[in-house]
Amino acid sequence: MEFIIPRGTQDILPGESERWQYIEEIVRGICHTHQYKEMRTPIFEHTELFSRGVGESTDIVQKEMYTFADKKNRSLTLRPEGTAPAVRSFVENKLFANPIQPTKLYYIGPMFRYERPQNGRYRQFYQFGIEAIGSSDPAIDAEVMALAMSVYRKAGLKNLKLVINSLGDKTSRHAHREALINHFEGRIGEFCGDCQKRLKQNPLRILDCKQDRDHELLKSAPSILDYLNDESKAYFAKVQQYLTNIGISFEIDPNLVRGLDYYNHTAFEIMSNAKGFGAITTLAGGGRYDGLTEEFGGPKAPGIGFAMSIERLLAALDAEDVKIAADQGIDCYIVTLGEQAKDYSVSLLHKLREAGISAEIDYEQKKMKGQFKSADRMHAKYIAILGEDELNQQKIKLKDAKTGEQQEILLDELIAFIKENS
Ligand code: HAM
Repeated sequence: MEFIIPRGTQDILPGESERWQYIEEIVRGICHTHQYKEMRTPIFEHTELFSRGVGESTDIVQKEMYTFADKKNRSLTLRPEGTAPAVRSFVENKLFANPIQPTKLYYIGPMFRYERPQNGRYRQFYQFGIEAIGSSDPAIDAEVMALAMSVYRKAGLKNLKLVINSLGDKTSRHAHREALINHFEGRIGEFCGDCQKRLKQNPLRILDCKQDRDHELLKSAPSILDYLNDESKAYFAKVQQYLTNIGISFEIDPNLVRGLDYYNHTAFEIMSNAKGFGAITTLAGGGRYDGLTEEFGGPKAPGIGFAMSIERLLAALDAEDVKIAADQGIDCYIVTLGEQAKDYSVSLLHKLREAGISAEIDYEQKKMKGQFKSADRMHAKYIAILGEDELNQQKIKLKDAKTGEQQEILLDELIAFIKENS
């Protein structure tokens, strides 16, 4: 039997995993300065959390969830996204009772969607996401978007576009919904089966149908911006004002509706403009979800957040040819000659590591030449050479790999020397 990785998943191997760690470091640093704290929720949840939270009429719930029955026949689903779990946890753990609000959370972890795999689209992908729950201050909307942009910029991306829209409040959305039904109803027969169902269920979904995206009625569809009531208009204006004040440029796209049902007011996506970046240009998406805590049985606590996949961020870095630190090399490689020296090096190696020095030895009984080669491959800064003579004198030869200079130092001084000089 041949074992191969499931379609749409990836192994992140050494060499590549350093790039992931680098991005995660940036993310954690920026979350710290913005005071978002990490949360970790389960990989699977009760299916209903997503069907109710993300929305019955969405592609995610209709087509893309990994749903299974456990041994007691409960329906569970591998999380396709992080917002519904974050809000569930916020309500369940009564985080709303904390005197400091909004509750600012972030997560990094795998999400699962049964989608058609292609460049930038996987069945298991890692999302970094944030959620600020418990405030409807438009300043938080601007903060959330600014944080996403900071992550991309700090990682080294330049060709970015922030696109925003407002989906308005309940009243505005209702008025828009009626207008959409009127617009499509007469010719709904020309649309796919899914859209025919969407017409009454959630006509907004027709606007981001992958199959019917070129239909002429989509271009002439009523724009949500024409249906915003005064309150929603004022909210959207304030968000734009804050973005402008902090120096973040953006475009407004009235057709940006997002693929999840919980949104109202602010919706946004960040795209890559890089030439050579694949067909999928969306790097991140997010928006405001003011009714979700109540949907999950909690008190009113308006929220906003976004998520980005690490895979797409790394792909965008490749497209812009941004190189990020890969293997940094090790501090010291110990080359030994003879069994006595080898035996001694095992404990010396342990001492070096305990002192915080990255170090390695040979485990394949290689000759000295082979050991030097390994040291070179591992980009060792220092090569420590130990034979019986040195050992008898409690000394060790130390070669600086960069300059080629070699000196003899006391074994007792090795740790202090490397610490000082690397
Ligand atoms: P989403 O737009 O479904 O929103 O996904 C957000 C991001 O996750 C996308 O922009 C993309 O970077 C990444 N992503 C989604 N699907 C895939 C995939 N199959 N392969 C690779 N990357 C993917 C959400 O998930 C919302 N929970 C975002 C949010 C947070 N809204 C408010 N708070």
